Amino acid sequence: MTTRVAIIGAGPSGLAQLRAFQSAEAKGAEVPEVVCYEKQEDWGGLWRYTWRTGTDEAGDPCHASMYRYLWSNGPKEGLEFADYTFDEHFGKPIASYPPRAVLYDYIEGRIRKAGIRDKIRFNNLVRDVRYNEDTGKFAVVARDTAEDRESEESFDYVVVATGHFSTPNVPYYDGFDSFDGRILHAHDFRDAREFIGMDILILGTSYSAEDIGSQCWKYGCKSVTVAHRTAPMGFDWPDNWQEVPKLERVRGNTAWFIDGTSKDVDAIILCTGYKIHFPFLPDDLRLSSANRLATADLYKGVVWNRNPRLFYLGMQDQWYTFNMFDAQAWYVRDVIMDRIELPSRVVMEQDPKDREAAEDALEDDYQCIAYQGDYVRELIADTDYPSFDIDAANEAFYQWKKHKKENIMAFRDNGYVSPMTGTMAPPHHTKWVDAMDDSMESYLQAD
Ligand SMILES: Cc1cc2nc3c(=O)[nH]c(=O)nc-3n(C[C@H](O)[C@H](O)[C@H](O)COP(=O)(O)OP(=O)(O)OC[C@H]3O[C@@H](n4cnc5c(N)ncnc54)[C@H](O)[C@@H]3O)c2cc1C
Ligand SMILES: NC(=O)c1ccc[n+]([C@@H]2O[C@H](COP(=O)([O-])OP(=O)(O)OC[C@H]3O[C@@H](n4cnc5c(N)ncnc54)[C@H](OP(=O)(O)O)[C@@H]3O)[C@@H](O)[C@H]2O)c1
Repeated sequence: MTTRVAIIGAGPSGLAQLRAFQSAEAKGAEVPEVVCYEKQEDWGGLWRYTWRTGTDEAGDPCHASMYRYLWSNGPKEGLEFADYTFDEHFGKPIASYPPRAVLYDYIEGRIRKAGIRDKIRFNNLVRDVRYNEDTGKFAVVARDTAEDRESEESFDYVVVATGHFSTPNVPYYDGFDSFDGRILHAHDFRDAREFIGMDILILGTSYSAEDIGSQCWKYGCKSVTVAHRTAPMGFDWPDNWQEVPKLERVRGNTAWFIDGTSKDVDAIILCTGYKIHFPFLPDDLRLSSANRLATADLYKGVVWNRNPRLFYLGMQDQWYTFNMFDAQAWYVRDVIMDRIELPSRVVMEQDPKDREAAEDALEDDYQCIAYQGDYVRELIADTDYPSFDIDAANEAFYQWKKHKKENIMAFRDNGYVSPMTGTMAPPHHTKWVDAMDDSMESYLQAD
């Protein structure tokens, strides 16, 4: 009987898993039969832009959280694939903070070259996964939303790659129900131009808050007010941008903060993060973890301790992204293909606890970056994923942090050295603050 592997999701993580198996096959190995279920009509996960919000074409929750004019928020040198460089894909060095469409093209280029599209069942929403102790197999129930048909198939292994930045965490504050304006979560934000001329209030202080605020500022909102629950972001913001303490209540279109100050606003954007949410998994298979670097209950950050035939990819908070998903996918592949032997249950259960303790001892973002770099290095050492200069990738992240501190509206004008090719990225032809066109054609033009 052929071993069967189900991958759920064809975003960067699920595609990394497909590429990992294809790479082994290309080297002559006998690989399991792989089926990838993807609820959207195409691949790319969050990097596939849609104008839709709320529900998708089939009436299920819309996966997309990305918006127009989104540029990479970290240097591309930190996410580059080790087996498919930017130089290879674009045929020339490109600048360090590509817009979404450019990164989508890069993700797609590698997977097209691998030729694995036929392994993906598009428009297939996984609704249920059950493990049968007697047979040692998983039953995966999916609904083909294009054909309006349900299927149930049996698998030896399941890899969950459904992401964790898609189900919005939506808090309630006193007076929201009678606010005289629009309240939306970052998940439903699509176009900064909707807020031209408006006073906007943002809740949250992480990447969505920083970037959505910056987008709205760049495209012409009147003012940005960011309320923090814990601490302000503390960048040197433009004059029409202020950071204020936690929101207390809203009356009419006036927002009141806990220090007694207030601000009249036209819209409130909740940049309050996402929930780790797996509606298709029963309790015994379902990961429950905070958005952090060391994920609870996962040996090596990927193997589900309570049933090591189940794996999760990309469930960590992310400095490293695409190449970390690769490192994880290659590791999972090698566990499935018996190239890596798992230790005893006791050792596996201790592993995430040790990782959590090590993470808790980290003192700043620089140490967090190095910690995740070491994790990627650790996984790569166990597989044939091409090793790369993690120190150079860390260095790109350190420089990025420094450049943000120097000028939050200009950090994307900097370039860094590729950890894969050693190439120095050229500057982009237009400063980010003046670059209104985020198309690939515009980004790649010579000058
Ligand atoms: C607004 C935003 C901006 C970001 N910007 C950056 C950035 O600039 N740089 C960076 O490196 N990272 C960025 N990220 C991080 C992002 O998480 C990763 O880059 C990457 O998309 C994660 O890949 P993934 O495959 O794990 O998850 P996703 O990209 O979320 O893909 C998951 C896939 O699973 C599918 N799926 C979900 N449920 C089911 C189901 N039940 N059945 C079948 N299919 C299902 C989805 O349709 C989707 O295709 C950003 C995230 C957000 C939210
Ligand atoms: N390419 C880009 O430019 C870009 C843009 C957006 C997002 N992203 C990516 O998207 C991912 C998610 O980022 P994110 O910023 O959406 O989520 P996040 O990093 O999880 O941050 C959530 C924020 O919400 C705040 N928060 C949570 N509950 C709250 C409440 N009840 N009231 C007020 N504040 C609350 C948190 O504040 P506390 O600190 O108080 O907990 C935190 O600041 C990241 O990987 C990021 O890199 C990238």
